[in-house]
Amino acid sequence: MEKLGKDKFYLIETFGCQMNIHDSEKIAGMLRDLGYKSTEKKELADIIIFNTCCIRETAELKIMAKIGETKALKKANNDLLIVVCGCMTQQKGMSELLKKRFPFINLVIGTHNLEELENYIKEYNKKLKFKSIIWEQEGKVVEFDKVYRTSGNNAWVNIMYGCNNFCTYCIVPYVRGRERSRKVIDIVNEVKNLAKNKEYKTITLLGQNVNSYGLDFKDGKTNFVYLLNELCKIEGDFKIKFMTSHPKDFSSKLIRFIATHDKMSKALHLPVQSGSSRILKAMNRHYDIEHYKNLVSEIYRTIPSATLTTDIIVGFPGETDEDFEETCKLLEFVKYSSIFGFVYSKREGTPASKFENQISAKVKQKRITKLFEIQHKISKEQLLNMVGKVFDALLEEDENHKIIARTDSGKTLCPVNLKDVKPNTFCKVKVLEINGNELTCEII
Ligand code: 5AD
Ligand code: SF4
Repeated sequence: MEKLGKDKFYLIETFGCQMNIHDSEKIAGMLRDLGYKSTEKKELADIIIFNTCCIRETAELKIMAKIGETKALKKANNDLLIVVCGCMTQQKGMSELLKKRFPFINLVIGTHNLEELENYIKEYNKKLKFKSIIWEQEGKVVEFDKVYRTSGNNAWVNIMYGCNNFCTYCIVPYVRGRERSRKVIDIVNEVKNLAKNKEYKTITLLGQNVNSYGLDFKDGKTNFVYLLNELCKIEGDFKIKFMTSHPKDFSSKLIRFIATHDKMSKALHLPVQSGSSRILKAMNRHYDIEHYKNLVSEIYRTIPSATLTTDIIVGFPGETDEDFEETCKLLEFVKYSSIFGFVYSKREGTPASKFENQISAKVKQKRITKLFEIQHKISKEQLLNMVGKVFDALLEEDENHKIIARTDSGKTLCPVNLKDVKPNTFCKVKVLEINGNELTCEII
């Protein structure tokens, strides 16, 4: 897009998880309200926003390098506004560090007062140098009414913020504060509006631990299943997904609810983190591997079409070859459809960063490679197992305007019978054959 006289452009660089992707949609909403349009070209931008993540050191290093690259742009255009927000800014001492390394940044804003970004941008005096507004503590839950959605037929909906769990490796509770839930009525109204717009086919509920939704209201009534029940009453052709769940609070009631409600997606994300009970204890996860395996068996028993994905950390301090072997065995037991595997990253201020027996980078690398090799084999088996079976799928147009069918668990299939099909509709498909990684199907 060429820049005309009065046009103002924004560019948001988003790092990290779905929570951040959705926060960027909120930021985009505020900026569009202020008259900015989106651009992918840094040179055209009047404002560049870095929505950061600090969950692993690799993310942080990448972000620092990206911010560094804007120095030249700022030199060429002193009116360019550079804003850094998101989890990284909320870490102790980060604001000072950013100021020292990148004094050309205009504004640093924390996670607890994101809603104020609009006002700060409106009132920002470009002559002022580096300004930092970081609240130490979370405030009240704020409703955002100007979300600019950019995730296709999926709409993200926050149901709660923060985390109370303090897994020993994780920095999230320190940068996102304690758990606080949005009101049922606000969530229901947002989903009702999304459902009216027939474009949205998946509503994904977001929270660090959705299973403890509503418990902070302490009213003896509101909980996650209660919320899901209210959402399933909303008319419309859409599926509900959620992330992330904590295995310690994934109840039988929730499993039964998912099994008996058509609107509920059967693709479940259930982070295990490790297959060793000893490591799970050191991680402060509050469950052992027997509990997790029982949960998985109950899910498969009660929801026959369930598919599972997970998060795994390898190389947690003190993880022995035997502990790692247990994680590998767990993959064979659960047969996840896919996994998110991470190398443990030491995060300043978390208990595990002070644990003895930190694992060498070489061992961590060897383990993650092996983990992915095992999962690769399992994922291939899973694909082969799909041949001849019938699945619920959503017809979508890919970037080349070709119609594909996406299963509940996210596998893309190529339909062979495309007469009279409408994109963005649900259908049933029968998988015909597999060629390499490509699966063909018949719409039935
Ligand atoms: N190192 C590596 N992975 C981590 N995660 C959280 N903290 C760390 C860390 N310090 C992973 C967990 C979590 C996912 C979002 O990120 O697996 O579920
Ligand atoms: Fe981090 Fe654990 Fe909270 Fe997830 S549940 S955000 S891993 S502390």
